[in-house]
Amino acid sequence: MAESKSAKLLVEGKEIELPILSPTAGPDVMDIRKLYGQADVFTYDPGFTSTASCDSTITFIDGDKGELWYRGYPIEQLADQSNYLEVCYLLLYGELPTAAQMKDFETRVTRHTMVHEQMHNFFRGFRRDAHPMATMVGVVGAMSAFYHDSTDISDPQQREIASIRLIAKLPTIAAMAYKYSIGQPFVYPRNDLSYAANFLHMCFSVPAEQYRVEPALAKAMDRIMTLHADHEQNASTSTVRLAGSSGANPFACIAAGIACLWGPAHGGANQACLEMLREIGSVDRIPEYIARAKDKDDPFRLMGFGHRVYKNFDPRAKVMKESADEVLELLGIHDNPTLQVAKELEKIALEDDYFVSKKLYPNVDFYSGIILEAMGFPTAMFTPIFALSRTVGWIAQWKEMISDPQNKIGRPRQLYVGSPRRDYQDMGER
Ligand code: CMC
Repeated sequence: MAESKSAKLLVEGKEIELPILSPTAGPDVMDIRKLYGQADVFTYDPGFTSTASCDSTITFIDGDKGELWYRGYPIEQLADQSNYLEVCYLLLYGELPTAAQMKDFETRVTRHTMVHEQMHNFFRGFRRDAHPMATMVGVVGAMSAFYHDSTDISDPQQREIASIRLIAKLPTIAAMAYKYSIGQPFVYPRNDLSYAANFLHMCFSVPAEQYRVEPALAKAMDRIMTLHADHEQNASTSTVRLAGSSGANPFACIAAGIACLWGPAHGGANQACLEMLREIGSVDRIPEYIARAKDKDDPFRLMGFGHRVYKNFDPRAKVMKESADEVLELLGIHDNPTLQVAKELEKIALEDDYFVSKKLYPNVDFYSGIILEAMGFPTAMFTPIFALSRTVGWIAQWKEMISDPQNKIGRPRQLYVGSPRRDYQDMGER
């Protein structure tokens, strides 16, 4: 980060000089850390539309060009040539692994795929009809009650073990949440399978029958995981960082990230999108929904469209669309009504002036739901799959923050617009 430029700000006649930091890629950043001390003013930026909350070496997004890099590598290359576990290594340690490093990493992750047996009882405390995200928030938070030997965040070794445990156990926990919701027995992980294939095995196999994971579906699942692995300072990642900045343990921080991801404006959009496609139901009803999306008085939005940062296209959506075509072809799904609505909606929205002028393009969630539904997942499992895939990104960001000597507790300020100071009145005088 070079610091050679500066900006001058005039605050009520007083000139303040602010350093401008130049990143490796992306726009320059004005450093306002000393602003309050020098000028007695805060900056105001609800939703952080103009604010960088940290520096990071992990992920880069160019929203205008539609680019996404993990540690400098374009997402398209990783989705095509790498695999999810290798991407996990890259995100966590900064470089692609050698063969020996990869083997060691795989062994470390697969040794941690089972959860403490007593956690089974914990699942049984939930209602069967609980949303799997509700179960995951609870169970992942409860990991702090089971793995005491990896909650001391000042110990790098414990941080490492907690990271591996989270990456290894999240698929097991998500699959258990699913099995519990449908009344089937929990399926233990199989460490001879790839990360993605093992997840499909834990979700779809039953003790009474042999289950063979279709390699093409495992590959598609691996790709979904890779595309969701990290996305710089989005809402859930910022939540993980903010929770972690107070010194909270990693299991609690990841549970906070899962809770934030659940919202329909974020990870919950994949479920909301598929439910919307089903609600539209047939191609002839699309104009009605497009009109609703444009109506300022109607809160309805086209789910799976738009992004805070991507204003050209979402590069993950492009790869996901290819995957969707491959999976549907493989499974022989051609005339599914949801798919027909999705294709037609995409076409109409991409030509419609409202969506074009506001740069609203299909995002990753528009296509991921189509693939996951074709694989046999219920919509309630879409967001848990996003959560388990994003866990590595949350951890990489959390680790980066903890080991940064500049790390401070996150504490935004506010523009207070409430009542001026007033005196308490006795009840009889109100
Ligand atoms: N349908 C209709 N209009 C929309 C949509 C949409 N999906 N998204 C944005 N707009 C309009 C919005 O009404 C606003 O119009 P105006 O300028 O006239 O007030 C304009 O576009 C800008 O929207 P914004 O809400 O200021 O943009 P934002 O950056 O705050 O929100 C977003 C980004 C992703 C929350 C939003 O586009 C949205 O709600 N999309 C649907 C939910 C969705 O698909 N979320 C998944 C995002 S990708 C995966 C992830 O990050 O988790």
